[in-house]
Amino acid sequence: MTRQAWVNGVYVAAEEAKISPFDRGFLFSDSVYEVTAVYNGQPIDMERHLDRLERSLKELKFGTLPDRKELAQVHRKLIADNGISEGFVYTQVSRGAYGERDFIAPDKPRLTVFLFADSKPLLDVPAAREGIKVVSLPDIRWGRRDIKATGLLAPVLAKTEAKARGADDVWLVGGDGLVTEAGSANAWIVTRQGEVVTRALSHAILPGITRHALFDALSQQGMKIVERSFSVEEAQSAAEAFNTSAVALVAPIVELDGMPVGSGAPGPVTRQIQRLYYQAIGADVAKAAPWAKG
Ligand code: PDD
Repeated sequence: MTRQAWVNGVYVAAEEAKISPFDRGFLFSDSVYEVTAVYNGQPIDMERHLDRLERSLKELKFGTLPDRKELAQVHRKLIADNGISEGFVYTQVSRGAYGERDFIAPDKPRLTVFLFADSKPLLDVPAAREGIKVVSLPDIRWGRRDIKATGLLAPVLAKTEAKARGADDVWLVGGDGLVTEAGSANAWIVTRQGEVVTRALSHAILPGITRHALFDALSQQGMKIVERSFSVEEAQSAAEAFNTSAVALVAPIVELDGMPVGSGAPGPVTRQIQRLYYQAIGADVAKAAPWAKG
């Protein structure tokens, strides 16, 4: 089946999708993006992703927004036409192409909007089952990480370095020695006292949609999340650690900078959080992720 993508209002075969090399997304990374998980053929938390997309565009003063209803329809049609049961929809909006290279943003932008969808197993994957190894590296990204911008060179380098060191992902550490987030996920620990901890929202981290969903899912169980920063050393001596994102969902961390986290295997609180999240997206945990069953 030919994969369908969508560029500026037109459905096209993915390999024939074209964007000008003058596009400001290509020349300046003058663009933002979203990745929405798909499970059981349904987009997960799409409205929150579209809210965050609009917020990113407003923060960067794009001056105009893509038609939100149309974006939601395109999500649904790409999922259906590409036969996606489990995977993701990618959305990118750039400030457009003008046949020139001018740092100054145009007054009346003609946005470039690009969406595609792909199949990818999300729940029953080795990272979720067995956990991942993480190394820490300095966070050299820009100062507005709350905006989901496509200038991703720093995480590209960091994740590539992590792989070269035999790890699966990276935790980025600010100049103050505190963990900001993972390469493309939010970072969490569970303390030995059983507190579930993640960094408070600010310009330093992306307000993750999966993070937000966990606040809902855990509060329904009467579980509290503590929002505060932590260091790599605190995480190494924590009981458990994990990452959250629309692609990783909830990924246990079993090793950090060569040291086992907790028992060196996914811990019971992380398993419980995986279960709660999988239930929240409508999964039958016993079938879809039996290893996460309580
Ligand atoms: N990344 N922090 C960063 C830096 C991210 O890039 C992401 C997501 C997250 C988690 O956000 P969410 O729960 O909304 O996915 C946190 C996506 C998945 C990516 O770049 O592929």
